[in-house]
Amino acid sequence: MRRFLTVDDIGDLNVAIKEALEIKKNPYAHYDLGKNKTIILIFFNSSLRTRLSTQKAAMNLGMNVIVLDINKDGWKLESELGVVMDGDKPEHIREAVPVIGQYCDLIGVRSFATFENKDDDYSEKVLNQFIEFSGVPVISLESATRHPCQSFADLITIEELKPKKRPKVVLTWAPHPRALPQAVPNSFAEWMKKADVDFVITHPKGYELAPEFSEGATIEYDQKKAFKDADFIYAKNWSSFTEYGKVLSLDKSWTVDEEKMALTNNAKFMHCLPVRRNMIVSDGVIESSNSVVIQEAANRVFSVQTVIKRMLEGLK
Ligand code: CP
Repeated sequence: MRRFLTVDDIGDLNVAIKEALEIKKNPYAHYDLGKNKTIILIFFNSSLRTRLSTQKAAMNLGMNVIVLDINKDGWKLESELGVVMDGDKPEHIREAVPVIGQYCDLIGVRSFATFENKDDDYSEKVLNQFIEFSGVPVISLESATRHPCQSFADLITIEELKPKKRPKVVLTWAPHPRALPQAVPNSFAEWMKKADVDFVITHPKGYELAPEFSEGATIEYDQKKAFKDADFIYAKNWSSFTEYGKVLSLDKSWTVDEEKMALTNNAKFMHCLPVRRNMIVSDGVIESSNSVVIQEAANRVFSVQTVIKRMLEGLK
C-alpha cells in the first residue's frame, strides 16, 4: 500500500474492518513491524484527534514519530511554479517535500481546502505534490476533498453498533457560523456508498455535494423525512460546493435535537468532532446515551493503525 487517500485505496471493506477490529483487540500485536521506521506527520491545519490518534497508532506499531506544524515551525512554502520568490515564502514545496521524504519511511499530511480556487482544491494540489515528490508512501490526514481516516473509523463504529445487517445511515447537514470544507461529508458519502448500508443524505437546497460523491446516494431535502427509521444520524456542516465555499444558510431548524432523534429507530448520533453544540447538535443529544462520538474518536487509532500496518508490510 503506497497511498491512502480514498476508499478505493483500502480494498475490500469487510476485510479492512475485520483487520481493524483485530488490531483494536490487541493493539501491540505488531509492535516489531515499525522498529527503526519513522513516520513524519505534517500539519498545514489544526488538529486534536488526527494528530494524537495517528501518533498513538504509529507508537503502537513501534515506530518513531515526528510531528511538524509546518505553518508555525517550518518555512512558509511556495507551491506555484514559475514565480519569482521575492515575497514572504522562502522555500518551495518542490524542495521541501523531497527533503522531508529523506528523513522518514512514511508521511501523513493534513492540508485542507483553502477556498481560494475550487479547481486547485478539487485537484488536491498540495497532497499530490507529497505523493509525487516525497518518494515514500503517503497517508491523507484530511485533504481538500476527503478525510479517509475519519470515514474508516466511522465505518468501524457503525459495524460495532449496527442493530441490523443493513442499517439506515443518514448524513445530515447542520448549521455552522463559518465556511467549512466538504472533505468529511464527501469522504463519508464515498465510504457509505461502498458499505452494506442504506445511505441517505439530507441538506437544504444549495448544499449539494460534488456529483462524484453524491451520485448513487438517496438525496432527501426534508430532514424529518430523512430521519424516519434511521439507525445512525451522522451530522456535519459543510459549505456550498456550487457557490464554492459560501455559507448560504444558518437555519437553526436543521440543528439535530431530541425531537428529530425521536423520529429515528433509536439512532446513534455520530459526528467527527470538533462539534459546535446548539448549532450542529443540541446538548441533550450529544450528551445522551445514543451519542457515540467518543467511540468514533477512539476508533481513529484503529483505522489509521490498519493503514500504517499495511504500509509497513509493503516496505518489507
Ligand atoms: N475529526 C478530526 O479529524 O478531528 P481533528 O480535526 O481534531 O483532527
